[in-house]
Amino acid sequence: MRILRTRAELASALADRPPRRAVVMTMGALHEGHLELVRTARARADQVVVTIFVNPLQFGPTEDLDRYPRDLDGDVAKLEAVGADLVFAPSVDEVYPRSPVITVVAGRIGEVLEGAHRPGHLDGVLTVVLKLLHLVDPDVALFGQKDAQQLVAVRRMVADLDVGVEVLGVPTVREADGLAMSSRNAYLAPDERAAALALSRALAAGRVAADGGAEPDAVHRAAADVLAAEARVVPDYLALTDPELAPVGPGYRGPALLLVAGRVGATRLIDNVMLELTGSAEDEEH
Ligand code: PAF
Repeated sequence: MRILRTRAELASALADRPPRRAVVMTMGALHEGHLELVRTARARADQVVVTIFVNPLQFGPTEDLDRYPRDLDGDVAKLEAVGADLVFAPSVDEVYPRSPVITVVAGRIGEVLEGAHRPGHLDGVLTVVLKLLHLVDPDVALFGQKDAQQLVAVRRMVADLDVGVEVLGVPTVREADGLAMSSRNAYLAPDERAAALALSRALAAGRVAADGGAEPDAVHRAAADVLAAEARVVPDYLALTDPELAPVGPGYRGPALLLVAGRVGATRLIDNVMLELTGSAEDEEH
C-alpha cells in the first residue's frame, strides 16, 4: 500500500489504469464503518484508493475542525489490514492551493435537516467530493448510508452535473448495542455514550412502528417518545422523509428515511434508518 501526499504523487500512482477503480473518501479517524466501505470496494474493484482529508470547507466557524480526531499512522495500519492499494492524504494547501471562488452549491438539499443546522456544510462536502472525484477519477465511489443526506446530495450532484461515476451506498455499521459508528463517538464520555443510545433506540422504535404498518405520524411519534425520554440528548431534528428527503405526509406509502440529529454534551451525532411505510395496520381497519 502506498501513501501519497501530493497531487503529483497521486497522478503518477494512478497512471496505469486498472479495469475498475474504487474510491472511498474519508476524513480519517477510521472505524469499522470506514473499513466496511473499503472491504466492499475491494470486492468490487481492482484498485482501491482511500482519501484521508479533513475538509475545512465543510466545517462551520464554531464547529470541531481543530479538535476533529486525526490519527494518520493508525489509519494507515487499518487500511493496510483491509487491503487498500493507495492512500491519498493531502494537506489543506494541496487540495486548496487557492481559496476557492467557485464551489458546488447543494441547493434545496443543502438547506434542510443537516443544512438547516450546519449552513454551507453540504456545499463544502460536495465541493471536496467533486475535486477528489476529478483527482482520483474512479469508476465507483462508496459512501456510508450513515450520512444519508450526504449520500443523497452526492448522488444528485453526480446526476445533475453528469459526473461519470457510479455512487454506491453502504449500510451503516453499528456497535453491538446499536450506536452508529462515527469518528465523533471518540468525544463521548461514558455517561454521554450511554445517553447517545437514545438516537438508535428512537430509530429502532420508529422501525418497529413502520413494520407494524403504522401511519407516518405514528412512526414519527414512536421515535420522538423514545428520544424525549433521554434528557441528556438535545435533538436538532427527527424527520421522516421520502428517499429524496422530502417530508412525508399522512397516507404516504413506500420507502422512507427516518433521520435524527442531536447533541450529547458538546458532541453532535446523526443517525438514520431506511423504512418501508405500508400503512397496513390502518388499511386493515378500513
Ligand atoms: O463523510 C465524510 O467523511 C466526508 O464528508 C467526506 C465525504 C470525506 C468529504 O469530506
